[in-house]
Amino acid sequence: MGARADKIQQRVAELRREIEAHSYRYYILDHPSVSDAEYDLMFRELLELEASYPQLVTADSPTRRVGVEAGEKFQKVEHLAPMLSLANAFSARELVDFYRRISRMLGETAIDFVTELKIDGAAVSLTYRQGMLVRGATRGDGRVGESVTDNLRTIKTIPLRLKGEARIPEMVEVRGEAYLPLAAFEALNLGREARGEKTFANPRNAAAGALRQLDPAVTAMRPLAFFPYAVGYLEGGELATQLEALELLEQWGFRVNPRYRLHRSMERVIEYCRSYESRRGEMDYEIDGVVVKVNRLDYQRRLGSVARDPRWAIAYKFPGEVALTRLLEIHINVGRTGALNPYAVLEPVRVGGVTVRQATLHNEDDIRKKDIREGDLVKVKRAGDVIPQVVAPVVSQRTGAEREFSYPELCPQCASTIIRVEGEAMAYCPNTQCPAQRLEKLKHFVGRGAMDIRGLGQQTVGKMVDLSLVEDAADLFALTPEQIGSLPGFKEKSVRNLLDSLEASLGQPFSRVLFALGIRHVGESVAELLARNFRDIDELREAGVEEIASISGVGPEIAGSVRAYLDEPSNWGFVRRLRKAGLTFQSDSAAETPTPLKDKIFVITGTLRDMSRTEAKSLIQGRGGKVAASVSSRTDYLVVGAAPGSKLEKARNLGIEVIDEAGLHSRIEEGTDGG
Ligand code: IVH
Repeated sequence: MGARADKIQQRVAELRREIEAHSYRYYILDHPSVSDAEYDLMFRELLELEASYPQLVTADSPTRRVGVEAGEKFQKVEHLAPMLSLANAFSARELVDFYRRISRMLGETAIDFVTELKIDGAAVSLTYRQGMLVRGATRGDGRVGESVTDNLRTIKTIPLRLKGEARIPEMVEVRGEAYLPLAAFEALNLGREARGEKTFANPRNAAAGALRQLDPAVTAMRPLAFFPYAVGYLEGGELATQLEALELLEQWGFRVNPRYRLHRSMERVIEYCRSYESRRGEMDYEIDGVVVKVNRLDYQRRLGSVARDPRWAIAYKFPGEVALTRLLEIHINVGRTGALNPYAVLEPVRVGGVTVRQATLHNEDDIRKKDIREGDLVKVKRAGDVIPQVVAPVVSQRTGAEREFSYPELCPQCASTIIRVEGEAMAYCPNTQCPAQRLEKLKHFVGRGAMDIRGLGQQTVGKMVDLSLVEDAADLFALTPEQIGSLPGFKEKSVRNLLDSLEASLGQPFSRVLFALGIRHVGESVAELLARNFRDIDELREAGVEEIASISGVGPEIAGSVRAYLDEPSNWGFVRRLRKAGLTFQSDSAAETPTPLKDKIFVITGTLRDMSRTEAKSLIQGRGGKVAASVSSRTDYLVVGAAPGSKLEKARNLGIEVIDEAGLHSRIEEGTDGG
């Protein structure tokens, strides 16, 4: 090697050392030693050197954090040891029960526990070989996750190489939580709101979404952070306690959440849990509870685990947080089917670290029953994923200036007379031409479960309507390149992409088209049933209510709604225009989708992360599986989301396989590969 090349290599190594030392001081110790400008200068020099001498680029170079090349799809990777989940405790009593169970099994009463905050983000595992970060993966189903290494590299608090030469093991898997700090979460949502994009319901969704970005540069724009909480697998080293593990993680250069504690008794553990219930607002990240762990690892091993939950740890969950704020006004939103949905416009209030501006009010009866008035001071509750709700007014605080809400007689959008169905809580606008309904219908039509037209977001649909480019979905297929090009932000390439997506959507099967029509009561699974039972739209149109209702899973109400839709001349005209545009209105039994889940019976419990229940249901049914309402010995799989109900326990008792969303996807893929 020449002297010059030697020098360059030295400089590169030096820069890396410096940059790492500085970023450690900056991100981990929170105590910078150089100015941002100096840091940037070094960083840029390193970038330039690496660009000129690509042979000098190494996997642990700090420049690799910025994000490189977009992957197509994430590779599936098996964790070295399974990533377990946790059983929940919702009260001090359940914590005591937990202690008694453990104490009995170990035959010990003096048991030390470590408590840690339960960070509400996305679980990841990081594999280090000889101290080098070689792989980062999502939890997936606990056994197999997805490799998101490049995305994880963008997280500044994840060391690319472990520090401290003394105790670098041959191989180690570090487990922890990638999360989005609350300030970053709020900023992200404000930006999305300003651009007319959908906002994230909570920092957890935002973090999970960021991790699964195909382009690491996008991940890098969401300033994720990371707290490690366990050593999942260790080769070439030994650990005796969880406390030791946390200390070692710190020595390796991780930023361990500093609020962990060791407790000598369950009473102290309970005190800790209680104290954090009221201190959630102190942190700049969201927590949804406290994790209680047996400190001694030999005890942990003796206790083992049941199904996916270790016996040696439990999550103490906080109740959903409640805040007080002023209800300014009650507004009404007109849905796609004309249903009127009232919601509360609130004086912005922070609930569980997130600013809430609106909350649902369900329906007229609910507003009456709770006697919620405009101007009231109200209790607002936010629990995990759930949309914020108005719990109740604080009646004692009334001044007399509050206004009782009277439901409008006319649609707030088109002034048609509103219809209330006897015995139903909902009110409807009957005018199918109502502009609000039209817009919502269009959004539904292009949406994910329906025609899934890529590159046509809700905001763009709104613009198209504003500019009178389209009145209904059939107009979409007659759009010219010039018309699309007149939309703000659309350039030659995006115009072409949208035309391609429209063209591609013509290949969507009959069931999706039926769902996309937006017929009241026809969700994805009903649409599938109809498509399976009728050869084409003409056959469906000729069928009587009884015939439609005789399909198992349909029933008279749905059948009546289908009939009414197809009988309405304007709707039929719409269908004919769509058919002319080339959409599929006949069942395609020849090109059947594969049925990897054939005859398997699934039950779903809890809130899924990426899909609605209906979506999950139709996914399963579309692949030949069945979805049952309750767990029985015939159940093959229980799909669990957040906050699962009693079904989980029942499934465990019956020894039924419990999987999560990722597990469902891998069942489908495995089955498809296997033929
Ligand atoms: S320990 C076997 N500690 O909570 C123990 N988990 O269901 C496994 N979480 O998604 C987890 N903070 O990612 C542990 N300090 C902490 C945690 C924590 C957040 C998450 C974890 C998992 C869920 C447990």
